[in-house]
Amino acid sequence: MKTAVITGASSGIGLATLVKLAQKGYSVIGIGRDASRCINAEKQILTNHPEVKVRFIYGDLMQQHEVIRVATEIMQILEKENENKLEVLINNAGCVRSWYTTTDEGYEQQFALNHLAGFLLTYHLLPQLRRADGKVIMTGSESHKRMKIHWNDIMLTRGYNPLLAYKQSKLCNILFAKGLNDRYLGDGIRTYVVDPGLVCTEIGCKNTGGVVDWIWNIRKKHGVHPDVPAETFAYLCDTKPAPRELYYHLCKPNRCSRQVTSKNADKLFALSEQLCGIKYPVWIKI
Ligand SMILES: NC(=O)c1ccc[n+]([C@@H]2O[C@H](COP(=O)([O-])OP(=O)(O)OC[C@H]3O[C@@H](n4cnc5c(N)ncnc54)[C@H](OP(=O)(O)O)[C@@H]3O)[C@@H](O)[C@H]2O)c1
Repeated sequence: MKTAVITGASSGIGLATLVKLAQKGYSVIGIGRDASRCINAEKQILTNHPEVKVRFIYGDLMQQHEVIRVATEIMQILEKENENKLEVLINNAGCVRSWYTTTDEGYEQQFALNHLAGFLLTYHLLPQLRRADGKVIMTGSESHKRMKIHWNDIMLTRGYNPLLAYKQSKLCNILFAKGLNDRYLGDGIRTYVVDPGLVCTEIGCKNTGGVVDWIWNIRKKHGVHPDVPAETFAYLCDTKPAPRELYYHLCKPNRCSRQVTSKNADKLFALSEQLCGIKYPVWIKI
């Protein structure tokens, strides 16, 4: 049975994708930050679809020590149940903030969760992905366009603008995906980014306030149901031969920003390695 790991699977797009992949026969491990929300989601899924295989692991992925603990739990499951292989990793967990707030490591929260958490989790699960010729999928956004990385102050500590921080974190998702393809496509690991479009979820109303909360409450009403982007994740997981482009919306390739270059991807890779205290492996072909 193929295995998929989905972060931010306790609500919204992640939850809809978890259900979709489980119905397609994947054993799915969902990651959520809140135990009771995860337990409720699991109960509801198993009541409606008793035949599927899903389980949840809890962890606050904003904190790097939590990412490492969650990765260790996933590796233990994969070793026991799936010959140490992972077919799909979906880095979907994300947040929006209204003010400058930091993690235990002192990193800006949107940057830490929306980008660094996926960067660190993927690093830990790379050998398992390689064994399965696995896929990594990020949940990106069209909002990455008309945006540049603020290389001299990537956490935007000076004159913090929450919307800019969000858009930059979504540009990081695509640059990271490009960096992974540049490094590991030859090893069988293929990476994509899904633009879900505007989706009716609660993302803008969690730990936010003021104008962010107010605007999102209006905007979300125009969004599609999370089942819509879940189709694109399922398409990328299962279509054969594997789709070849980087960035997808509604199961079709889309053009991404001109900022998505190997040069920028390498720069972000090096900076993120430094911020996570890791070094991605270079695998030499024999
Ligand atoms: N909604 C849109 O229109 C839209 C558009 C473009 C891109 N996106 C992207 O889609 C992704 C999913 O967002 P969504 O709209 O589905 O919102 P959502 O329903 O709030 O889902 C976010 C998920 O991430 C989890 N999460 C939040 N903070 C976490 C943390 N510290 N550690 C671990 N998990 C955490 C949430 O857990 P809880 O259930 O406990 O809150 C939830 O499961 C995000 O990356 C977002 O940037 C959304």
